[in-house]
Amino acid sequence: HKHVLGLADLSSEDIQAVLQTAESFKEISARSIKKVPTLRGKTIINFFFEPSTRTRLSFEVAAKRMSADTFNISNSGSSTVKGETLIDTARNLAAMNPDCIILRHPRSGAARLLADHVDVSVINAGDGTHEHPSQGLLDLMTVRQAKGEIAGLKIAIIGDIAHSRVAHSNIIGFSKMGASVTVCGPATLIPPGIEALGAQVSRSVMEAVDGADVIMALRIQKERQQDPLFPSLREYAKFFGVSQKVVDAAKPEVIIMHPGPINRGVELDPKLADGRRSVILEQVTNGVAVRMALIYLIMGGD
Ligand code: CP
Repeated sequence: HKHVLGLADLSSEDIQAVLQTAESFKEISARSIKKVPTLRGKTIINFFFEPSTRTRLSFEVAAKRMSADTFNISNSGSSTVKGETLIDTARNLAAMNPDCIILRHPRSGAARLLADHVDVSVINAGDGTHEHPSQGLLDLMTVRQAKGEIAGLKIAIIGDIAHSRVAHSNIIGFSKMGASVTVCGPATLIPPGIEALGAQVSRSVMEAVDGADVIMALRIQKERQQDPLFPSLREYAKFFGVSQKVVDAAKPEVIIMHPGPINRGVELDPKLADGRRSVILEQVTNGVAVRMALIYLIMGGD
């Protein structure tokens, strides 16, 4: 593949290859080998139109660990604020001859648009409500490392499914790898047709997590509080917050995931976020390894 735009474009074999490569990189990092010369001379541009802590920094850490040169450009620091279009900006970046552009953008389809207009590899770091493929892959890696295998597991994803690119990539990824995915959230935030991606829909959290191996809580997007489709945070926490009672309905060895950033006490009880079932920081650690694998494979790694 020249680009990584979404898990919808990857086969289960592609996903296996990324996870295996990421696991090798994680092992190398665990041996205190923090930097390898693999991508010396390569240039990577991080182009982020939306705020990000984990994704932007872990792509940068990943690239630097393989000795690539990285450059960051944000919306507010670029000439897009003067009215330059995304395509014109991208063509100008491409004219500087980078090997890869990593794009986060508020519009669904922005990464595909870029890939269609520049002759440079594009990695989607989250486009609108569409997909967040590197997050989906790091979540698959985290579950595989915790459970040994993905096929046959039950994954419960709780939250605002309609607006979540993380949910979409995870539904596609976990389904492709043979897990069953149940989603649950306020009825107004479950998009019609989500079953077509491979998810079952449950109206009750207790039903959704019944027998689950993995509970994934999603961030409630507080910035959408003016949206009439949105419940209040108090209502949300009462009906859809992941509490100890919810966890008790899952399998005894269930793991708790969250892509971050967390609204503590809204979608997830803080004790659970910091508790022994939480793999939330492991997700972040695996994010570096997965992003190393993606950059490496896209740049011709075997
Ligand atoms: N999970 C995730 O995408 O986090 P950031 O928005 O901080 O990158």
